[in-house]
Amino acid sequence: MADLQLTDDVPPDADDGVWLSCIECGETFAPFDDIRYTCDHCDGLLEVRYADLPTFEDFEGEGSGVWRYHAALPFDVGVTLPEGNTPLHEVPRIENAAGVDSLRVKHEGMNPTGSFKDRGMTVGVRVAKEVGVDRLACASTGNTSAALAAYGARAGLETLVLLPAGKVAAGKIAQAALHRARILEVDGNFDQCLDIVQDLAQLGEAYLLNSLNPFRLEGQKTIGLEIMEEHYEDYGEYPDRIVLPVGNAGNTAALYKCFRELVKSGAITEDQVPKLTGVQAEGAAPMVEAIEEGNDEVRRWDDVETIATAIRIGNPVNAPKALPGIRATGGTAVAVSDDEITEAQREIAGEGVGVEPASAASVAGLHKLREEGVVGADESVVCLTTGHLLKDPDAAAAAGNDPEPVANSTDAVLDHIGASSSVGQSLRQKASTAATSPLALLAGGVGLAYLYRKLRSTE
Ligand code: F0G
Repeated sequence: MADLQLTDDVPPDADDGVWLSCIECGETFAPFDDIRYTCDHCDGLLEVRYADLPTFEDFEGEGSGVWRYHAALPFDVGVTLPEGNTPLHEVPRIENAAGVDSLRVKHEGMNPTGSFKDRGMTVGVRVAKEVGVDRLACASTGNTSAALAAYGARAGLETLVLLPAGKVAAGKIAQAALHRARILEVDGNFDQCLDIVQDLAQLGEAYLLNSLNPFRLEGQKTIGLEIMEEHYEDYGEYPDRIVLPVGNAGNTAALYKCFRELVKSGAITEDQVPKLTGVQAEGAAPMVEAIEEGNDEVRRWDDVETIATAIRIGNPVNAPKALPGIRATGGTAVAVSDDEITEAQREIAGEGVGVEPASAASVAGLHKLREEGVVGADESVVCLTTGHLLKDPDAAAAAGNDPEPVANSTDAVLDHIGASSSVGQSLRQKASTAATSPLALLAGGVGLAYLYRKLRSTE
């Protein structure tokens, strides 16, 4: 089992208080001397470590977005568009339906390229510049490729993206294409694309910017910092639980790192850490399987399928960081059906918040866990929605209302919609109140009275 304990020892390889540490064997490395994604000795996952960890006071007066938190990051500024500072929406109808004390939706779809991946790329592409590479690459179910293409373009670097052919939503491919990435459509799934990109990286043909790259997760941990700060500001306490969709488990790993660092710095106590709760689609649920069966390792699923193509992943590479996170925080993982995902997507859209299917998995998972009694009625919950509705226009159109053809005339439209709206009535009511109230008349009722007369004259 991985050792994710943060220690006080600063190794000699540290550069300005920053180093890389293997979570399996504890070996440490200088952060930017060489390019490596995993441990040279045991191939374990690497984590970025710091000699000094900030508390919330250190972020005060530092602006907004990812770089507000530079005291928790390896650089003061990155290749920025800028990213972060996403809304923490109130969703009263879903809160009520779920039956929890409070529910907020952290909408990561409001980042520059429409997903949380931008937070990782602003740091990751900065590192690429630091180590001096000329070609960036990733495997992707779509969002990573859109973000890498945009940040690569921003940095003036060549970008290569490997996508599973026929399984990436239209908006994401369009982004990668326009931001000048070379798009390689592979006849295989995401996990196989990632195998190839790892080979390319090993051969020195590209700098890998999947979440296997530990610097990506540094940027993504700022989701946790924003949630903690804003929730505390609004409620005077931190959330009990964060529910998020899981694919490669990068975000789960990043949030757990965020909380470990906050505990280590003394910013929060152990019992203030939110329960990390992962949600996967039933057709791609290896993490859920590992949690349910109590396994320390995740079994790779070779055949995966779900409408939520962003999380159509059978081999979550960050599982060694994420599984301990789910367990240590007292969280869990749950699988939801494609129908439940679509229903949740509609429900979130009904609050005015547009998200792609994978994002809606978080809310679907919350409903399920609430029904099962795993989530309590007294809990304050934050659901993470990871990508914007426009990422997958086909899924949105299929889940939403069908367009209704109608003839080109007002009468035909009136006939079609059925003249039942109370808009006209409320206008008349307002106008008549205005016409009879001297105060309102003085304060602009003249206009409304005019409107009233006009409405009358058309009756
Ligand atoms: N939600 C969305 C919208 C995503 O695009 C992804 C991952 C996830 C959730 C899962 O996040 O991997 O950190 O557990 N998308 C990657 C991609 C794999 O290529 O865009 P995770």
